[in-house]
Amino acid sequence: MTAANFAASSPDRTTARVRLRPTMTSDLEFVLSLEQDPQNLAFITPWERTQHEAAIRFPDFRHFIIEGGAELNAMGFLILIGCRSQHRSLELKRMVVQAKGSGFGRAALRVAKKVAFDDLGAHRFWLDVKGRNSRAKALYDGEGFVVEGELRDCVKVADGFDSLIVMSMLRPEFTGRRGLGLEMRA
Ligand SMILES: CC(C)(COP(=O)(O)OP(=O)(O)OC[C@H]1O[C@@H](n2cnc3c(N)ncnc32)[C@H](O)[C@@H]1OP(=O)(O)O)[C@@H](O)C(=O)NCCC(=O)NCCS
Repeated sequence: MTAANFAASSPDRTTARVRLRPTMTSDLEFVLSLEQDPQNLAFITPWERTQHEAAIRFPDFRHFIIEGGAELNAMGFLILIGCRSQHRSLELKRMVVQAKGSGFGRAALRVAKKVAFDDLGAHRFWLDVKGRNSRAKALYDGEGFVVEGELRDCVKVADGFDSLIVMSMLRPEFTGRRGLGLEMRA
């Protein structure tokens, strides 16, 4: 699996260019530092290093570094789970982008969808997002994910509890969006 397989520019008004490459052990300091950044910590549940090491190795997982910008520098990471699911139901477990609000998250999500549906054969691609995470929720809404439901008050946060909103995209929805030019070409 090479990085070039996933090189992509987002096909619409977003001009951010990203590609995904498999995370290596030498990337884990970067990954762990992103997770511990207070800007991200509020929206994710950070893992121990050993969990990331396992995710790099375990065949059911895909752990990617998001590279972007003119120099294709490392600017984030994302993790897919369920890559060998007999139900073909893959989860976007985590996505973190360092330079926020510049379109890199949207571009990376487009590539992740292509990987999930085209390369890994997903029928359903799903995720959960904290109710307070309005930026990520807006991104997933805008990228065609459908709200399935809400796990009310299921995560403890500093000042109380937050809910998790479960969202998904099914293969026919992805195919339909691709037909409208909203997804990367096959
Ligand atoms: C969520 C995250 C991956 C999105 O990546 P990003 O590069 O910042 O997002 P983009 O610049 O591609 O913006 C995508 C959309 O998010 C929405 N958005 C961006 N900034 C926003 C803000 N400050 N408030 C609300 N919505 C916002 C917009 O809809 C935007 O699309 P548009 O600019 O075309 O209107 C990134 O912000 C991040 O790493 N956040 C912290 C970790 C996290 O929340 N991960 C997801 C856990 S489920």
